[in-house]
Amino acid sequence: MRKVLILLATLVLAAACSTKAPDIEKKIDELLPQLTLEEKIAMVHAQSKFSSPGVPRLGIPEIWCTDGPHGIRPEVAWDQWKQAGWTNDSCTAYPALTCLSATWDTELSRLYGESIGEEALYRNKTVLLGPGVNIYRHPFGGRNFEYMGEDPYLSSKMVVPYVQGVQSNDVAVCVKHFALNNDEIHRHTVNVNLDDRTLYEIYLPAFKAAVQEGGAWTVMGAYNLYNNQHLCHNERILMDILKGEWGFDGVVISDWGGCHDTDEAVRYGLDLEYGTWTDGLTMGATNAYDNYFLAKPYLDGIKSGKYGTEELDDKVRRLLRLQFRTNLAEGRGHGRFVCPDHSAAARKIAAGGIVLLKNDSNVLPIKGARKILVVGENAVKMLTVGGGSSSLKAKYEISPLDGIKARFADAEVVFERGYSSGPAREQDGVSAKFDLSEDRTPARMVADAVAASQDADYIIVVGGLNKNKNQDCEGADRTEYGLPYGQDELIEALAATGKKLVYVNISGNAVAMPWIDKVPAVVQAWFLGSEAGSAIADVLSGDVNPSGKLPFTFPVEMSDGPIFNEEQYPGIQREGENIIDEYYSEGVFVGYRWYDTKNVKPLFAFGHGLSYTSFEYGEASVKGRKLSVSVKNSGKVAGAEVVQLYISDTEASVARPAKELKGFKKVFLQPGESAKLTFDITDEALSFFDADAHKWVLEPGEFVAHVGSASDDIRTSVKFNVK
Ligand code: BGC
Repeated sequence: MRKVLILLATLVLAAACSTKAPDIEKKIDELLPQLTLEEKIAMVHAQSKFSSPGVPRLGIPEIWCTDGPHGIRPEVAWDQWKQAGWTNDSCTAYPALTCLSATWDTELSRLYGESIGEEALYRNKTVLLGPGVNIYRHPFGGRNFEYMGEDPYLSSKMVVPYVQGVQSNDVAVCVKHFALNNDEIHRHTVNVNLDDRTLYEIYLPAFKAAVQEGGAWTVMGAYNLYNNQHLCHNERILMDILKGEWGFDGVVISDWGGCHDTDEAVRYGLDLEYGTWTDGLTMGATNAYDNYFLAKPYLDGIKSGKYGTEELDDKVRRLLRLQFRTNLAEGRGHGRFVCPDHSAAARKIAAGGIVLLKNDSNVLPIKGARKILVVGENAVKMLTVGGGSSSLKAKYEISPLDGIKARFADAEVVFERGYSSGPAREQDGVSAKFDLSEDRTPARMVADAVAASQDADYIIVVGGLNKNKNQDCEGADRTEYGLPYGQDELIEALAATGKKLVYVNISGNAVAMPWIDKVPAVVQAWFLGSEAGSAIADVLSGDVNPSGKLPFTFPVEMSDGPIFNEEQYPGIQREGENIIDEYYSEGVFVGYRWYDTKNVKPLFAFGHGLSYTSFEYGEASVKGRKLSVSVKNSGKVAGAEVVQLYISDTEASVARPAKELKGFKKVFLQPGESAKLTFDITDEALSFFDADAHKWVLEPGEFVAHVGSASDDIRTSVKFNVK
């Protein structure tokens, strides 16, 4: 009998491999009854740091996960976070997702997904742990650099092609961290309190788009709590919304160490448990996989009749579906790893996301330089290392200094460190190497940089944050809005030389720039990955005309809002409990929604980004629900403009933001060339979420469509009525 079952299972699997999606459910129906209770239990929890078992006797493979989201993480030991020491796992490092979002280019997002998906496939991974789409709520957020900015519409549009690109390789994405994981400081104990309108309008849309439009096959629960329940087993978020309202048929994976309770994990949506009770994240013995909440305690619970098998079968059904979509997909390929195409993709995305924030007197692009002084540790420090789970072992990383030297080979390029961040960060056995021997005082380093500038015609400062703790790094937030390590003093001193000064800010977060009036050119470069230096040189030289736009606001000061008190951030300790309550009382007024509505001028607005050319807008007109507008490249060089559509509801029964992004298009235009663009104004673009009725509501009346080059640079507006 046993032999017959094995044969049947083999036939079923063989058939599943040769036919695709439509009959997957049938295959699962046939396969499921053949699994023993123990085999099913084994499937729903990890067997090592990043893998969970299949069913070897039936040819069901193991599931292997990898971080994510900017490159394929080096292999770590079976049961430890330390690197396994492989020598064939050095990946292509892609730009951080903040950069991808700053491209406002959905084609580049698709390219990103396809390329990183190929790398994951080559490394035999089932699930790529990314992308992350938590909303940028506060500039201190330690993981903002891994996410797609402050706007739900922009993140929704940018995440979908990434998901589709990765999954086109038969590798699943794992959209994270679902949901409301918007800061790191108390990430395991913070309970987020917010109203439903804010939840549905701001914090859910990008996840919903990833699931419904992108078709994401897995989702990662977040560490924090909502409704006093951890989000890796949260009834409202996972059962009611994700699997209920959105009809998600994939797998919910816990964040590593995010599962806390067998009962809740069984009933409230968790399908696959990772990272519990192993060293690294929580306390406990190593190799304790049998003690996972969804391991022996679950098995015992079923055997004693405490739990039925219905939930288990649902979890296993989802896991088998994942198997047929990935490891067992028909014609699954082999992927590609660290190849010229991937380097080219990384460079294109990096250059496409760099934002020209300021360019007085056309200091940029650099022309006819004889001597360039490059100052700043970020010009030489490896920035693919550090930052937490997204840390990489890159095959190569072109530093900004090397990129500048290569591009400006005719000029003399000299380097001064200017400031020091202290010991190099190491993660997974990879060190963020740069010359650590520094015995100069901060003042001496500044003086040396000023002295070195004497006969230079350009000074390029490459500074910002790095991926050290309390900078842009998982597990902790920033503690100051200003630049660290005395960089303000350095920039002030170099500005006083009166030379052509360019400040290149590397970060995934907004920073204060108190010296902004004294520095003629400022460039926002993100954590750009392997091709960082080449992409920065592309933009500084004008080989690439910058076209990135900010995916979040740079406020002048933190006190400009919208977060003013401890209740809002980082939350307040609940008496007698290990819980911190955080209140999102700013509601939907996150980022530019706040600054616009309150008329507070930011340092740099959401959507802002300059070009080496200029664009002229025609007058927008609305016919029915179609908006048309023309845009012309009125300058002398080719370039791309991101045309942004914002909607204002002038007569709403609820407080609505002054305007909200509801459309964008990136157009590449030759000098003198024009394009006519049309946008559909959908019901969705006009509606707000009515929490009492639990539905989106479109109130008839007057609306205004604003079209422009940034949220604070509207070029044409048009009123229209909805009956
Ligand atoms: C992070 C996840 C990551 C996981 C595995 C967790 O600490 O929050 O984003 O995917 O570790 O490394």
